Amino acid sequence: MRKTKSVRTVTALMLSISVIAAMTADIACATAETNTEKGFRWRNGAEVYSKVCSYCHESQVGPRLFGRELPPEYIRTIVRNGSRAMPPFRPSEIDDESLARLAEYIQRN
Ligand code: HEC
Repeated sequence: MRKTKSVRTVTALMLSISVIAAMTADIACATAETNTEKGFRWRNGAEVYSKVCSYCHESQVGPRLFGRELPPEYIRTIVRNGSRAMPPFRPSEIDDESLARLAEYIQRN
């Protein structure tokens, strides 16, 4: 069991590095028009989920999030602070408003 857990952790860390690298590239491209001082804005919660969270949460790296009625405050706290193998996301990556919409989207689904 210990071994499986550490393999998962390493996988999650490697994925987080590639997700962050990919996001940084996306953000760099989008900086000109959409980036504001508040951070990177996403179109809606579904977009953030599919482009960022699903990478781990739809691939057995992270636990399932839908259908559990997780409180939005809990989701926002985990996203901002991270949790063990889950990396934190800063406002420059997901701004506060996009994060609020994301948390509502996850709770509704
Ligand atoms: C790099 C992989 C990765 C990405 C990307 C990721 N997560 Fe996670 N997430 C994890 C892992 C792994 C855990 C389990 C952490 C642990 O060991 O407790 C987790 C846990 C969570 C939890 C706690 C679930 C519970 O059962 O209590 C929430 C909520 C969560 N993630 C939300 C998100 C959201 C929202 C996003 C998108 C912004 C996201 N995560 C992106 C890997 C990821």
